[in-house]
Amino acid sequence: MSRRLRVGLITTAVIGAGAVLFAQGAAFAAPPAAPDHHTPAAAGTLRQLASQVGLRVGTAIDTDQLASNSPYRAIAATQFSSVTPENVMKWEVVEPTQGTYDWGQADRLVAFAQQNGQLVRGHTLVWHNQLPAWLTAAAPSMSADQLRAILKKHVIDEVTHFKGKVWQWDVVNEAFNDDGTLRDTIWLQKLGPDYIADAFRWAHQADPKALLFYNDYNIEYTGPKSNAVYQLVKDLKAKGVPIDGVGFQTHLDTQYPLPDLQNNLQRFADLGLKVAETEVDVRTTLPVTPVEQNAQVAGYTSTLQACLAVRACLSYTVWGFGDAYSWVPGVFPGEGAATIYDENLQPKPEYTALQQTLALAAGAPGRSDPRH
Ligand code: G3I
Repeated sequence: MSRRLRVGLITTAVIGAGAVLFAQGAAFAAPPAAPDHHTPAAAGTLRQLASQVGLRVGTAIDTDQLASNSPYRAIAATQFSSVTPENVMKWEVVEPTQGTYDWGQADRLVAFAQQNGQLVRGHTLVWHNQLPAWLTAAAPSMSADQLRAILKKHVIDEVTHFKGKVWQWDVVNEAFNDDGTLRDTIWLQKLGPDYIADAFRWAHQADPKALLFYNDYNIEYTGPKSNAVYQLVKDLKAKGVPIDGVGFQTHLDTQYPLPDLQNNLQRFADLGLKVAETEVDVRTTLPVTPVEQNAQVAGYTSTLQACLAVRACLSYTVWGFGDAYSWVPGVFPGEGAATIYDENLQPKPEYTALQQTLALAAGAPGRSDPRH
């Protein structure tokens, strides 16, 4: 089933509403008012403003764009305080041939982060996509023990390679279907549901200080999928499995209602977990109308407000910046404009919305309390 259909199913099933633009009926999500004498002028980079409220503001990085002196590199270095490799820590990239690791691109991104005082979100250790061809070819004929040994080696070797350099790891990514059942992957088929707990244990063994996250999309909405993830992480905690947090990818589309994100983040936080928004973008149909752009601004504003309102929310990460580099048009034909910078790397109103939301939070009483 295509991602588009899955997204449509979950939002329709959960919200029970037809397609609406965010801007309609979303009081919580109203974009910040234009600055006046009551409102601090938004000034400063996103990372400067976020640091005032103890929040890390991050982006996915397309490492192909990091050439020295590129405008992309300058924005990545100055606007964000954490980075996520969009692709270069995925299994197909780091182990293209069985037993031969290629950490080069990921190492260069980690070095970039260190040069710029940024933290790294590691993405991702256990997933059903972007697996190396040698693995997908061989997996069906492997025994459970053989496949488990390969998965264990992958998790331990990758986490060990980056030990002390990765702040948060997305240990298991997208293990659920939108109806709340476990996704039918090679991991589930061969290893059963325990592969999830095992992956967290192996990652913890390799780097006990890294924060270990379960990460998924369409769990921003309360409903069958987020309920299933809630039950999973509650059970993992009860069993003493070393899980630290849940990542809410937050890939939104203006044709669906806004998620009830703050309440949802809070219920996971109440389990004693960290939370993070890990892949925020807000796509819409092209060309973008003023109404759609308002809805996109509302999407960015409300998702950042939700994170700011929940003290366990450690980071707010956009899934890339620059509409020319976004994954969206390739997967959703006719849609795009999902990021906070335009095709020419000029900041859009979505950028200003994040800047103003952070500035307002920084000026509010109590906002300097550390996040935890
Ligand atoms: O590297 C090859 C290149 O050698 C080849 O010439 C080219 C031809 O198509 O493909 C390149 O690989 C592409 C890769 O991105 C790197 O650019 C793949 O085709 C393409 O499918 C892949 O897409 C990535 C996608 O994950 C794969 O599922 C997107 O960039 C990336 O943004 C996206 O990220 C995911 C998160 O990891 C998990 N959550 C959802 C999110 C969006 O789908």
